[in-house]
Amino acid sequence: MKKILFLIMILSGPFILKAQTDEQRAQSLLKKMTLEEKVGQMTQVTFAVIAKGGWADTEGIVDPVALKKAVTDYHVGSILNVNAHAFAMEKWHEVITKIQDEAKTTRLKIPVIYGLDGMHGQTYTLNSTLFPQNIAIAASRNTQLASGAAKVTAKELRASGVRWNFAPVLDIGRQPLWSRFAETYGEDVFLGKTMGVAAVKAYEEDGLRNVTAVASCLKHYLGYSNSRTGKDRTPIYLPEIEMREYYLPQFREAVNAGASTVMINSSEINGIPVHADKYLLTDVLKKELGFSGVVVSDWEDIIRLHTRHNVAATARQAVVMAVNAGIDMSMVPSDFSFYDLLLEAVKLKEVPISRIDDAVKRILILKYKLGLFDDPYPEAAAVSNFGQPSYQDLALQAARESMTLLKNKNDILPLSKNSKVLIAGPAAQSISALNGCWSYTWQGNNEEWYPADSKTILQAIIDKAGEKNVITTTAKGFNDPANYNISTLKKAAENVDLIIMCIGEDAYAESPGNIREMALPEEQQQLVKAALLTGKPVILVLTEGRPRFITELEPSSSGILMAYWSGKKTAEAIADVLYGDYNPSGRLPFSYPKSIGEIVLYDRKPTEEVREVFNDNAGGGYDPLFPFGHGLSYTTFEYGDLQLSSQSITGNEKLTITLKVKNTGSRFGDHSVELYTRDMYASITPSMKRLRAFQKIGLNAGESKEVSFVIDKNDLAFVNAQLKTVTEPGDFDVMIGDRKATFSYQ
Ligand code: BGC
Repeated sequence: MKKILFLIMILSGPFILKAQTDEQRAQSLLKKMTLEEKVGQMTQVTFAVIAKGGWADTEGIVDPVALKKAVTDYHVGSILNVNAHAFAMEKWHEVITKIQDEAKTTRLKIPVIYGLDGMHGQTYTLNSTLFPQNIAIAASRNTQLASGAAKVTAKELRASGVRWNFAPVLDIGRQPLWSRFAETYGEDVFLGKTMGVAAVKAYEEDGLRNVTAVASCLKHYLGYSNSRTGKDRTPIYLPEIEMREYYLPQFREAVNAGASTVMINSSEINGIPVHADKYLLTDVLKKELGFSGVVVSDWEDIIRLHTRHNVAATARQAVVMAVNAGIDMSMVPSDFSFYDLLLEAVKLKEVPISRIDDAVKRILILKYKLGLFDDPYPEAAAVSNFGQPSYQDLALQAARESMTLLKNKNDILPLSKNSKVLIAGPAAQSISALNGCWSYTWQGNNEEWYPADSKTILQAIIDKAGEKNVITTTAKGFNDPANYNISTLKKAAENVDLIIMCIGEDAYAESPGNIREMALPEEQQQLVKAALLTGKPVILVLTEGRPRFITELEPSSSGILMAYWSGKKTAEAIADVLYGDYNPSGRLPFSYPKSIGEIVLYDRKPTEEVREVFNDNAGGGYDPLFPFGHGLSYTTFEYGDLQLSSQSITGNEKLTITLKVKNTGSRFGDHSVELYTRDMYASITPSMKRLRAFQKIGLNAGESKEVSFVIDKNDLAFVNAQLKTVTEPGDFDVMIGDRKATFSYQ
């Protein structure tokens, strides 16, 4: 009997151990930790701190002495970033192994968590697969692409030995001047939260145990995209009603979808730096949204409460403010000042130990969830997930579906492969202008690090139409003077049927991308004007991270293709669309403005729609160059009448809206059907329209499909004057394409 009992105990032992939750494991480890070890866990340093030669290192050489200092002496919990450029996967394995080896020698053997910015693919591993930036993914209106791209990013990060991705960006793109506009999913809340949730789920996979998952990081909480001047990291003024209506919902939904970490907005809102804002960090994020993961600061943003924001009189006060406000980990990142100052502050009782324990517990739980305590090293099982050939197909499909055809006068597109074309403009032989920020380097503008098989637009068009049909006046790289030479352009144009003008923006990230003008740079405008004067049809191909004004160029252009920064396969996708091998289906995720004085967003208020007539000489109304949702196809779609399951709904009742969509053209087409509603009267001035649902379908020529949407009161809600999300009774319009119906909510 005794023997049997013993056997039962032995057998059930592992299960008893397993049954311990990550939280319990973290709690018992926490009890063993010294204050120094706890504060160390809250400290995150950049790679330069452990590199031989510090910031001067470009090859990823770890200095064992510096590493020991960071991991053993300062107990740092996390390391991030690279100094200069992406490393080979093997280099990452070497770096991560050295770091975890060092962690194993420490008293409690707590593994280090490494974090990187894999924003549209794994930025910092050479030959990783780069996908379209979020703005382009949003244009595709295909959530499967958002999740597919995130999944590959997770796999390539994890194959590199890295388990924490600083993505997705959930800032809403309502300020087109902002240099990080391309990282957003555009101006609409629904689109942003739908795409963001798809990405988060793909990164996290219902818990982080698999070798294909990474911890996501929602950023940059909150309101970062809304700086008044559009300059990165400058003041934001955001009334709470607007914050709750447009900026918070994406974060709420992504927290519910299981996001493990959140990074904080570097700027100030209404005069309060967000890193010091206890209301936003603790009351709203941790309590109201119920976020139980790790809150990490952005780069150097705690000390900046003292050095830049001037709200903390000393560096220690800055640390006290941020940690008490709710920051769990400080991206210090270049020294150990945070560690020293926080230790001092706790000893002086300026930060309660309960706050430290809460922060450290969150960090430890994350490390347990990620399996780092079981095996912190690069996992053999993850390595084969790097660089699979199928990722290239996905990157191509994502780029194709992002392409947004804005203009197609007299059906000039698709082109015949026998047309003689002149390829001009600075983006024609640039790789970086097709990829943008976070592409093998932070700025993305160093082509040395891109995969050797990356194609330029020129190359992709030659592949399609053959050398004999293609000439160019361009040279390699965006800034080569040859690209702007008007006389060679004019001469070359004499011998062709049309001109493909590749213009836009070269890669930039964050503050280096600040601009003073939204207009396309003058020399590009001159070039396009010269091309238009030749009398040959001109097709504009725009590779850009934000809508640079083309207002004067548009009327005489024959075709305009918005290509965004769509990653590795941008050039191929452009050629596919121009020559009709893919029928474009992208739809603008923002309103493309005409001028700086007319930046009105699609979900405008009635007084923006119709302004006071007698004193508005500016025209008035929503009058962008191209509206939100605009995007042409080579086929045509016809919508049937909207069928509503009921004329009115009450309480939690659901309303089904059904319509028939027919492809009335002569070729297959993908198409996003988009449902908008309008609240006719409400206690807060209602928007003229709000996107509530979309579905992307594919239809053969002549084919029809029935499409149904189900909405309920939550889809009709808004934030009222008491800051509550409510649905008020009344009449609503529901609009899909040119069709409209009315129902009431009671
Ligand atoms: C950016 C973040 C990024 C961090 C780490 C900051 O400058 O604002 O988006 O995650 O650097 O690289």
